[in-house]
Amino acid sequence: MRYLVTGGAGFIGSNTVDELVRRGHGVVVLDDLSSGKEDNLAEVRSKITFMKGSITDIEVVQKAMVQADYVIHLAARTSVPRSVKDPVDTNRINVDGTLNVLVAARDNKVKRVVFAASSSAYGDTPTLPKSEDMQPVPISPYGVTKYVGELYAQTFGRCYGLENVCLRYFNIFGPRQDPDSPYSGVLSRFSAAFLDSTPPVVFGDGEQTRDFTYVENAVQANIVACEAPSASGRTFNIGTGHAVSLNRVLEMLQKASGKTLEAKYEPSREGDIRDSLADIRLAKEFLGYEPAVLFEEGLERTYAWYQANHPKNVAG
Ligand code: NAD
Ligand code: UD1
Repeated sequence: MRYLVTGGAGFIGSNTVDELVRRGHGVVVLDDLSSGKEDNLAEVRSKITFMKGSITDIEVVQKAMVQADYVIHLAARTSVPRSVKDPVDTNRINVDGTLNVLVAARDNKVKRVVFAASSSAYGDTPTLPKSEDMQPVPISPYGVTKYVGELYAQTFGRCYGLENVCLRYFNIFGPRQDPDSPYSGVLSRFSAAFLDSTPPVVFGDGEQTRDFTYVENAVQANIVACEAPSASGRTFNIGTGHAVSLNRVLEMLQKASGKTLEAKYEPSREGDIRDSLADIRLAKEFLGYEPAVLFEEGLERTYAWYQANHPKNVAG
């Protein structure tokens, strides 16, 4: 089969591309390298087609789509605080860009689009765990854009018969998550802080919780979602069903690194959700989804990866 992976040079994207290539599929990656890196595709570069371009350019998207059977649409601005600072830019890429991807998928008669939705759609409502039948109440512009992406994907199903599956990922982490931007995911930031022996920065009191989900689980879900029967038109949570606080994560990293670092506590970020936990029963039922790697093992693997790839430890 032939897959178009938008955002395929990014964190979740490049891990997905590796697995598709390992399974013998043809892959086209469309990525503007705004947060992704071509290096993330180094191991598979000779086996895939890489196109540098933006999903905001409909002609580029149409070109990338020509031979695709399936589209895994991951390209986006992913940061909650960045969307609070610049909602127009996040909307342009996450909403206008997603619309372009859906239009091109419709025109090129792809079999199905899998869309990277987000648990941020749920907002900060008190009920946990979050299940897909709850009314989304996003509290950040980013959360709105991800929910609008779902509505568009499902409307393209109803309006044009375009098959679609939306996966609400819950805080994905693992190898290749970029720690270098202030907008990067917290586990990449904390891992880098421990490796550099600099104080990790905690926004808020550190008692906020997240259902941190190792990237391999998201990759499996992405691929299964392309073909799972009876899944089209639906939204699924992709998490683990367990949550952990940032303070607890810091304790675990102290153990993994053998270092004791005092965290620096700063005010909470706007748009931040307090607690997040997934009910994954629907994904189990329709996708046969089962998180194969749980948090503790994922964290150990991730810390080991950052250690091996730290500039100090990379030869050359
Ligand atoms: P990432 O930043 O590593 O990946 C995003 C990729 O999209 C990058 O390679 C970037 O260069 C590319 N991109 C950005 N704008 C683009 C544009 N205009 N045209 C083409 N490419 C563009 O982030 P990630 O964590 O791998 O996120 C992948 C997807 O999963 C995103 O849609 C994100 O919203 C969603 N998601 C991520 C998480 C998480 O915890 N990481 C959770 C929920 C949803
Ligand atoms: C993350 C993803 C988002 C996704 C959402 C839902 C990223 C950058 N964000 O948002 O794309 O849709 O999960 O699954 O991948 N924090 C610190 N110190 C730091 C960085 C963050 O304390 O250095 C805190 C934040 O304030 C927040 C928590 O850690 O309370 C998680 O932050 P972050 O990793 O940015 O993720 P989300 O905002 O949950």
